[in-house]
Amino acid sequence: MAILPILCYPDPRLHKVAQPIQAVDDRVRTLASDMLATMYDAHGIGLAATQVDVHERLVVIDVSEERNEPLVLINPEIVWTSAEKHLNDEGCLSVPGIYDGVERFDAVHVRALDDKGTSRVIEADGLLAVCIQHEMDHLMGKVFVEYLSPLKRNRIKTKMIKQQRESRE
Ligand code: NI
Repeated sequence: MAILPILCYPDPRLHKVAQPIQAVDDRVRTLASDMLATMYDAHGIGLAATQVDVHERLVVIDVSEERNEPLVLINPEIVWTSAEKHLNDEGCLSVPGIYDGVERFDAVHVRALDDKGTSRVIEADGLLAVCIQHEMDHLMGKVFVEYLSPLKRNRIKTKMIKQQRESRE
């Protein structure tokens, strides 16, 4: 398993729209296991392929306390959403150190292929529902800070650019 480099906001590659995966083969399974290793290494609860500069519809998630319930979602589609929405604080491995409120559906049902190519529907609420919506946004080229006010977003952008410059020095 390999640890992959994670793109950092405001990298323009985070705004590419991911393409559907045509076949769940060994290439895809290797990518999924590398993404899980990368997510665990970074102490994240979710990672979209977009964030490792692969523009295909694949996300990995683990919201368990013990970090032993990996979920691989290939070509995920939301097939149902709750009527209710709530504001939750979110963070993102591509925007390190930033947490802010985003409104998400309380519950979603998502249809996706697993790493064996089997189609299943996952009924998610709580943190898992929030995480699925956040990761699926990445596949559409959307980063959570884009829900914030332009003022906040610009402040975050400036901070990220400064951080990245300093880490290169
Ligand atoms: Ni994210």
